Amino acid sequence: MVPLKSDRLDAGQIRSGLATEAKQNLRQLTLLQDVDSTNTAILRLPGEQQHAHVILAERQTGGRGRRERSWHSPAGGNIYLSLGWWFMQNTWPLSTLPLVVAIAVCRALSRAGLQGHGIKWPNDILVDSRKLAGILVELQSAGQGPAVAVIGVGLNVRMPSETPGDIEGAIDRPWTDLVSQLGPENSGISRNHLVVLLLEELLTGLELFETMGFEAFRASWQSLDLLNSGEIRLEQNGQNRAGIARGVDKNGSLLLEIPDSGVVAFYSGEVSIHRD
Ligand code: BTN
Repeated sequence: MVPLKSDRLDAGQIRSGLATEAKQNLRQLTLLQDVDSTNTAILRLPGEQQHAHVILAERQTGGRGRRERSWHSPAGGNIYLSLGWWFMQNTWPLSTLPLVVAIAVCRALSRAGLQGHGIKWPNDILVDSRKLAGILVELQSAGQGPAVAVIGVGLNVRMPSETPGDIEGAIDRPWTDLVSQLGPENSGISRNHLVVLLLEELLTGLELFETMGFEAFRASWQSLDLLNSGEIRLEQNGQNRAGIARGVDKNGSLLLEIPDSGVVAFYSGEVSIHRD
């Protein structure tokens, strides 16, 4: 797919498109042509420059995913966005933050006109069982004191492809992009507009999370959870567990009902839908 010429990321357009509150809460917006990883770029900043700092890039040469995977990040059509956030008081379990971020991304996608998307625990955004967006939240904290979160969002908008088949070599699981899902009448959707929606939802979500914690998001989680009450398989450290997904606990851990073991909480692992 050929990227639209007019769809270059533009920091001025993004800033001016933001609602007043988001504009006030965003301290810095840095737009890069090329970077290894926008998450790494935030982590490299001195601590005092990380809070409310957004880095966007047209291309990542070393885009990173969860579980030490890479994130395919070609130039010109997608969104690679990272936001640094300092939590001065560690009031709520930050292990729920990746779920809160996924909800914020889903809300932004709904505002962009998408329907039928949801979250595969902990934070894969899928449509029709295909991955549309991935989230990598990296936390650094010193015990009970302040913690910094680097929130990375990769959204496939208009996946560039030079040679048919080249993407299949780079992405090892079913994927999709937003323009394919929105249909031809919305194929011109602007990435600047999408970044505005993402930032508004992320900043509002972070504010709500800081005051109310994950419980303020539980109902949204339940409506977006693609696994709930389904038979799934969870792979953790080379071990497979099969069971029925029963939502998440207050720490964001997946609750899995396992025959003969009852409901067990898992804080990490890779989920697949169980099919025999
Ligand atoms: C995953 O699903 O495995 C998470 C993918 C996260 C990708 C984004 S792109 C912006 C930010 N920078 C990175 O290197 N990774 C995240």
